[in-house]
Amino acid sequence: MSGKGGVGKSTVSVNLALGLANRGYKVGLMDVDLHGPDVCRMLNLDDKLSDADMEDGDLVPLMRVGDNLKVISLEYMMKDRDDPIIWRGPLKVQAIRQFISDMDWGELDYLVIDAPPGTGDEPMTIADIVKDAQALVVTTPQDVALADVRKSINFCKHVKMLVLGLVENMSGLVCPHCQNVVEVFKSGGGERTAGDFNITFLGRIPIDPLVVVGGDDGKPYLSSGQDSPAVLAFAGVLDNVEKNIGQKAPASLDMAG
Ligand SMILES: Nc1ncnc2c1ncn2[C@@H]1O[C@H](COP(=O)(O)OP(=O)(O)O)[C@@H](O)[C@H]1O
Ligand SMILES: [Mg+2]
Ligand SMILES: [Zn+2]
Repeated sequence: MSGKGGVGKSTVSVNLALGLANRGYKVGLMDVDLHGPDVCRMLNLDDKLSDADMEDGDLVPLMRVGDNLKVISLEYMMKDRDDPIIWRGPLKVQAIRQFISDMDWGELDYLVIDAPPGTGDEPMTIADIVKDAQALVVTTPQDVALADVRKSINFCKHVKMLVLGLVENMSGLVCPHCQNVVEVFKSGGGERTAGDFNITFLGRIPIDPLVVVGGDDGKPYLSSGQDSPAVLAFAGVLDNVEKNIGQKAPASLDMAG
């Protein structure tokens, strides 16, 4: 979650889900940004649910990426991707409930939920129905965004949701010529804020133009395994998420040993 839009929630969600799936976990990715669903574009998914899938009372099949990742987005249930979506609160709550209860998730190690900015119906509904959900707060180095972090953290306190930690995204810029990281804004604010609130700092990810290209082409870059500062930084975030969520080894590994 985050207070503001455009800080990289969807980018982090999609790459977190893919990165964990690449590490052998069974992962679900749920896009509850009902007004601006981005997950399908970022993963190059254009499946549409058929009326038959919806009718027969069975659990609804999900979109799949590889063997380990299942995805749901409202787009999957819309006939036309460009339809504007006007949802009132109760409908949103109902849609999110269905995302949880009616879908064929199977056993999951992780369910990653991409929320819209702010502390409205969507995160409220998640807090209400996923009792052990934890918040991963995304911010950028600018102070305004950090003021937003405070709102997110206060929200979590209010609804008694654990805060998994904070990611500072767009923190410095990867030079496309020499791959060094150039400090653009004052960075490190995320780590300080995390300290102030006594929450875990999960890492900082620099701006890399390849992230934008990857997001638009359906090839998420941060979890791509390439040897670049942004990808390595993100791998560190994945390590910290695994470490801090108290998750055991992937089910598949458990069985092997
Ligand atoms: N680390 C990054 N480097 C470069 N571009 C990024 C980075 N993180 C996000 N972006 C880009 O910024 C834009 C907003 O990111 P997005 O994940 O959609 O934000 P949100 O979901 O918070 O609104 C997208 O075009 C995305 O590709
Ligand atoms: Mg988004
Ligand atoms: Zn350079």
